[in-house]
Amino acid sequence: MTTPSAQNNSTPAHALATALAEHAHKEGSLLPILHSIQDQLGYIPNEIILPLSQAIHRSRAEIHGVISFYAHFRTQPPAALHLALCRAEACQARGANALIAHAQERLGCDFHQRSQTHDVHLEPAYCLGLCAQGPAAMLNEQPVAHVTPHHIDEWLNQVGESA
Ligand code: FES
Repeated sequence: MTTPSAQNNSTPAHALATALAEHAHKEGSLLPILHSIQDQLGYIPNEIILPLSQAIHRSRAEIHGVISFYAHFRTQPPAALHLALCRAEACQARGANALIAHAQERLGCDFHQRSQTHDVHLEPAYCLGLCAQGPAAMLNEQPVAHVTPHHIDEWLNQVGESA
């Protein structure tokens, strides 16, 4: 199983310095800086907002607004397992709804939430380009076809999510 995102041992301060060095001098630098920080750390920690706002002369409210506008940005470290289940029409015709119900029951959470252990983050997906091989999922950013409840159980067991 792969990790949810490319992360290294960079600290928030180092990640911010790297992102600023790469992008601060450019027009429209905020988005590239945020992407760079998330690429380095796996998320955008709250502690970088103030120094970032000072460095690029933007308000903290504006930066928070951009982060919350784009679903791609995370403000918490990623879960050990990021599971996105396709709920678009072709996958629904191939049993996605039952699969989703199974995952939600096992995890005790809905879409856009984390499991009780916080080790699994469940998200919906809307077509992953595997329509003929559904139900489809993205497991830590890797597409998976023909997903069954057995697959879900195996993945959750690997991160210690008890049934
Ligand atoms: S509808 Fe699920 S992959 Fe296209």
